[in-house]
Amino acid sequence: MAILAPSILAADLSNLAQQIRLTEMGGADWIHCDVMDGQFVPNLTFGPIIVDAVKRSTHLPVDVHLMIRNPDKLLENFIKAGANYLTVHYEEVVHLNRTVNKIKELGCKPGVSINPSTPVQSLEDIAEYVDLVLLMSVNPGFGGQSFIPNVIKKIKELVILRKKLNANFLIEIDGGIDNKTILPALKAGVDVFVTGSSVFNSDNVTAATAELKNILKANS
Ligand code: DX5
Ligand code: ZN
Repeated sequence: MAILAPSILAADLSNLAQQIRLTEMGGADWIHCDVMDGQFVPNLTFGPIIVDAVKRSTHLPVDVHLMIRNPDKLLENFIKAGANYLTVHYEEVVHLNRTVNKIKELGCKPGVSINPSTPVQSLEDIAEYVDLVLLMSVNPGFGGQSFIPNVIKKIKELVILRKKLNANFLIEIDGGIDNKTILPALKAGVDVFVTGSSVFNSDNVTAATAELKNILKANS
């Protein structure tokens, strides 16, 4: 079953627990947390303290997306804060195999993300060791950007790579997912759909979540 993971980046953080409850009522499956350090990406968001607040506000899996320099320093902090999935960027981590093993040792599910310009083939020697591959469909750093259509080709390449490696990682897409872009991504082979502004910038968070969830249900 396709998984919907609203990102709290676009949520009203002064009402975090309520915003999470509203999207849960619409059928959200995971909660996505965008951690940005103003270095790896030109924006600054939040750290383990907010991940902890999310964890205490939901029973859903917490999906943490690290867009930070040197994430190895903070793996334990995010896992202690309650991350169920912890994703680092391929472009940032030099010893990725070691980092993935460390996340597993700490009892969390590792993920690896690639930017729009990074080829899927880069993942050939790491993909079988992770639980999640996150394809960025926007340049990371901000919500509300337009979906980059080239990622549809990358989804299909990743489906082929997963088969070739006999691996079972989930394919996650992130950036510009709305009621128009979600279906082509589903048809190309995506399992997990991050969606920020199309849910939390809507007039009705619950209805906007349910609309995307119903598109997934009707076409899965
Ligand atoms: C961007 C983040 C995304 C973003 C998605 O760097 O990784 O998770 O919040 O937001 P929308 O759905 O508005 O593109
Ligand atoms: Zn994200």
